[in-house]
Amino acid sequence: MLLSGTISTPPPSLRLKSTLNPQNAVTQPSQASYSITDKDLESRGFHLRRTAQGLNLDQLNSVFVAVGFPRRDTAKIKVALEHTDALLWLEYEKTRKPVAFARATGDGVFNAIIWDVVVDPSFQSLGLGKAVMERLIDDLKVKGICNIALYSEPRVLGFYRPLGFVSDPDGIRGMVFIRNKHKNKN
Ligand SMILES: CC(C)(COP(=O)(O)OP(=O)(O)OC[C@H]1O[C@@H](n2cnc3c(N)ncnc32)[C@H](O)[C@@H]1OP(=O)(O)O)[C@@H](O)C(=O)NCCC(=O)NCCS
Repeated sequence: MLLSGTISTPPPSLRLKSTLNPQNAVTQPSQASYSITDKDLESRGFHLRRTAQGLNLDQLNSVFVAVGFPRRDTAKIKVALEHTDALLWLEYEKTRKPVAFARATGDGVFNAIIWDVVVDPSFQSLGLGKAVMERLIDDLKVKGICNIALYSEPRVLGFYRPLGFVSDPDGIRGMVFIRNKHKNKN
């Protein structure tokens, strides 16, 4: 698990380059810090979306499958999105299909976990993954959330690190409940 920020009182070195003031007040994201501006994305035919409205879940599922995620029940994806605090996706103008996606769940004030970061293989290495992540992180920071975590496959660590994520900060390890191992012990 990668972390940006910490679980309670983060040391400065672990925090995102946050613009939060000492009172943890909400701030607005700055377009200037993005690797690609909204305008540039639009001019390249990528429309930014921050709600699930208009998102075809079968098409999203196809992007998940195309990058190697298991195909999921679309009805369950719908429920997951209903319980998602922040999401961001890019719709490609020519096809009207989602080509990049990321979402975060959490408690709305302290903590968030980012899930399902994907870019359609035909659109990878264009800066879209970074564009989506930069904005999702900012959207969370705007809500005052400074503890942002995610699970990363080893091959993607290099994608997340420049975005401000570190592995095992101060020795903190993520732990995951594995049902089968638990059952075997009984
Ligand atoms: C990981 C993923 C989201 C990256 O999206 P992308 O649009 O291809 O990446 P970008 O073009 O925005 O790359 C941004 C930067 O990250 C780097 N980068 C991209 N993928 C990387 C990787 N796997 N390892 C290291 N660096 C990577 C790029 O070189 C680029 O560097 P730069 O800013 O110095 O030019 C995309 O490859 C993907 O969907 N992969 C399959 C699904 C997946 O593994 N998701 C993550 C689950 S943990």
